[in-house]
Amino acid sequence: MSEIVIAIDGPAGSGKSSVSKQAARRLGYAYLDTGAAYRALAWDLLDRGVDTDDAEAVTGALAGFDYSISIDPDDYWVRVGDVDVTEAIREPRVSGVVSQVARVPEVRSTVTALFHRIIAEAPNDGIIVEGRDITTVVAPDAQTRILLTAAEEVRMARRSAELTGESTARVAEQLQKRDRADSAVVDFMTAADGVTTVDSTDIGFDETIDRVIGVIRGDAA
Ligand code: DC
Repeated sequence: MSEIVIAIDGPAGSGKSSVSKQAARRLGYAYLDTGAAYRALAWDLLDRGVDTDDAEAVTGALAGFDYSISIDPDDYWVRVGDVDVTEAIREPRVSGVVSQVARVPEVRSTVTALFHRIIAEAPNDGIIVEGRDITTVVAPDAQTRILLTAAEEVRMARRSAELTGESTARVAEQLQKRDRADSAVVDFMTAADGVTTVDSTDIGFDETIDRVIGVIRGDAA
């Protein structure tokens, strides 16, 4: 069971997944990517032919959602049943419907309960949990809570560099659309009380990790 929980929230393209993963490696902590659960559910619903716009159908399908995720930052994978969906959940067809799925209240409560179980059972000394509502809903009592932000144009440039084959304009449009839909459900653009903001607009990846680790160590001192 993890003694230390580090909560990191932020919008798409803020770098929170790669920063959280790398910080976990350096600290010897586990790493939980919560967005992957919402994405895996969206993938599963598409695979099963469930209408992702139909909240009742989505809720009904939750019982059959068989998901597992690695919390080892050196060996990251996501599975639905015995299908490895690590890559597939990043596809635009999944990103396009995930916000719709994540806004269903029964989805949020079911998935949050899964996170609580994973956090409680993690064998490492600590776990970094990353998402949108970790500092406020999933782990409001975490020892360290961070909001990782970056200016919108920087987030878009980073995301389009990741997604080869997609035009910058299209990436920007999708990102804005998803941020708008997601922030209607949880506010991940402003830091809640007691949450430390790390802004990565003008700093590189390594410096962002140093700052995040600095905040974590400062809170432990
Ligand atoms: O971080 P990401 O882009 O992989 O997240 C995918 C979607 O899941 C995102 O559009 C919003 C949703 N999400 C959420 O509602 N709450 C979280 N804690 C994490 C993600």
